[in-house]
Amino acid sequence: MALEFPLTPNPSPKSDAEIAAIHANPGFGTHFSDHMSVTTWHQDQGWVADGVVPYGPFQINPACAVLHYAQEIFEGLKAYRHADGSIWLFRPDENAKRMNKSAERLVLPQLDEADFIKACTRLVETDARWVPDAAGERSLYLRPFMFASEDYVGVRPSPSAVFCVIGSPVAPYFAGGVKPVDIWVTADYARAGIGGTGFAKCGGNYAASLLPQVEGSEHGCSQVLYIESVGKDQVEELGGMNVFLYRDGKLLTPALDGMILDGITRKSVIQVAADLGIETEERRLTAADLFDGIASGAVQEAFACGTAAVMSPVNSFKSRHGVWQLPQPAGPVTLKLRERLIDIQYGRAEDTHGWMLRVV
Ligand SMILES: Cc1ncc(COP(=O)(O)O)c(C=O)c1O
Repeated sequence: MALEFPLTPNPSPKSDAEIAAIHANPGFGTHFSDHMSVTTWHQDQGWVADGVVPYGPFQINPACAVLHYAQEIFEGLKAYRHADGSIWLFRPDENAKRMNKSAERLVLPQLDEADFIKACTRLVETDARWVPDAAGERSLYLRPFMFASEDYVGVRPSPSAVFCVIGSPVAPYFAGGVKPVDIWVTADYARAGIGGTGFAKCGGNYAASLLPQVEGSEHGCSQVLYIESVGKDQVEELGGMNVFLYRDGKLLTPALDGMILDGITRKSVIQVAADLGIETEERRLTAADLFDGIASGAVQEAFACGTAAVMSPVNSFKSRHGVWQLPQPAGPVTLKLRERLIDIQYGRAEDTHGWMLRVV
């Protein structure tokens, strides 16, 4: 049976003035809207007790499975306000599909695509005041997540789970908008391995990325690019973004091999590039493709992409062995693709692929 997410209003919602103050300087992921969508699952009953309820803490038993074994998955998507005041989601069906793939890998329950989308749209409808206008590429970031809720200390798939969506008004992830970023490259740490959880969006992957991220920031870098750590030869992805190179008039990006996340921005960039007559080669990308390609001048541009930061041009890749400076840190191809994608999201370019879903 379809979930409905009936509303229990927040008795003390933020005032319009308080929300305006947050919108003036939202940061990323620090402020949360007045409500959240929640539903719970039990293996004997399926999904039950769904609703849009006041935003607030969960009460969690110290024995709760997620606290011990990290049986948890999440998603990330944004609600965009268009110039006419309407509010839209970008490809939420893709997030719903990907969450179910993550759920399968983490032995969490499947959620119908329609229920996933409804959890998001009901929250956005309810907290429409929290969706900023398009100035400065602001949006309401939605964070759907699901966790094992059984109170049991022992390694086994939980017979119960919670699914929740929260909303946070955000500015672009990297302060400074299209400011080109420096990326730390490491083969010392693995983000994922063959047969592991690289393709799933589970919290454990990100916990494992924190130490390399600290190392990267000590070297002035905002993200880490992983080179597969066994052969030390295969370019994978960043801790939270996919990577593209632009070489000989073509985009190059690592193929989906089970170790990297099937990014929705990645697949949208590939389509937008095709629309603009730019071919993308999805293949095994080697460290030589990256380092020698930049050193020889063949790689003219590079960018990282993901929902949070959209598309960030790369200024340089740095590692323990040196610095590889891009000749065109915010090159014309990167900027053209970025502009087209953002224009679709904010309703300034025609949505020829039917990616946008109107909510309000
Ligand atoms: C590891 C990783 N790769 C890639 C991405 C980009 O995915 P998307 O474009 O769907 O946001 C993300 C962000 O969600 C990520 O965490």
